[in-house]
Amino acid sequence: MKNIRNFIKKCTHPFLKSGLKLYYSKPRKYCYESVCVQVHPDVFPPHLTFSTKILLDFIKDLELNNKTFLELGCGSGIISLLASQKGAIVTASDVNKIALNYLEESAIRNNLKVRTVYSDLFDEIDKTKFDFIIVNPPYYPKKAKNVKEKAWFCGEHFEYFEKLFSQLTEIEFDNFYMILSQDCEIEKIVSIAQKNNLKTQEASKIKNSFENNFIYKITKMN
Ligand SMILES: C[S@@+](CC[C@H](N)C(=O)[O-])C[C@H]1O[C@@H](n2cnc3c(N)ncnc32)[C@H](O)[C@@H]1O
Repeated sequence: MKNIRNFIKKCTHPFLKSGLKLYYSKPRKYCYESVCVQVHPDVFPPHLTFSTKILLDFIKDLELNNKTFLELGCGSGIISLLASQKGAIVTASDVNKIALNYLEESAIRNNLKVRTVYSDLFDEIDKTKFDFIIVNPPYYPKKAKNVKEKAWFCGEHFEYFEKLFSQLTEIEFDNFYMILSQDCEIEKIVSIAQKNNLKTQEASKIKNSFENNFIYKITKMN
């Protein structure tokens, strides 16, 4: 099954790549229920990927009223805006300034409140405890050539996860959720978490015809 999937991916990849390039050559609107954002071409595209929609469906069912909520690496910010619509007090961070600027405009258009922070992981984020932290990380092991590529690549040696999990040891949190796909090196990522005394538990598994996605709850080991 995996071989067939890889074969289909290989054959369609060049067409998909040029099709996507054309599709994303200008800002595109993306909506989830009544919340809409404009997505700049240099920002992670939620339209044709599965992870953002899966997280939107996931947080839709959470009780978020008056809860503090951090979306680490917010991209278009649609998840942050949905959380805000559900009554959460939201902080959205990213290393992509265009993403943050677009999110600020989207927040105004949706009449929702989100605090944006330009931050490399937790570097510039207050060390207060968030009730919820949600992450859709970049997970392909390659060095990002520019900020746009940071949406996909976590560094040749998984530097993104090394830094994130080491920072988590210094931070208090209750509900930390991260989505990963079967396409990524889950075992390697879990091993970096374990090295930092963090436990990864599967909270949800979402299957579709193309891939399986997993939402992990990350907690500190006792
Ligand atoms: C896969 S995208 C997810 C975007 C959004 N959360 C979503 O689900 O649609 C990963 C995001 O993380 C951001 N990012 C990558 N490295 C980061 C870092 N070191 N600190 C903060 N954000 C980072 C990227 O710019 C990108 O917006």
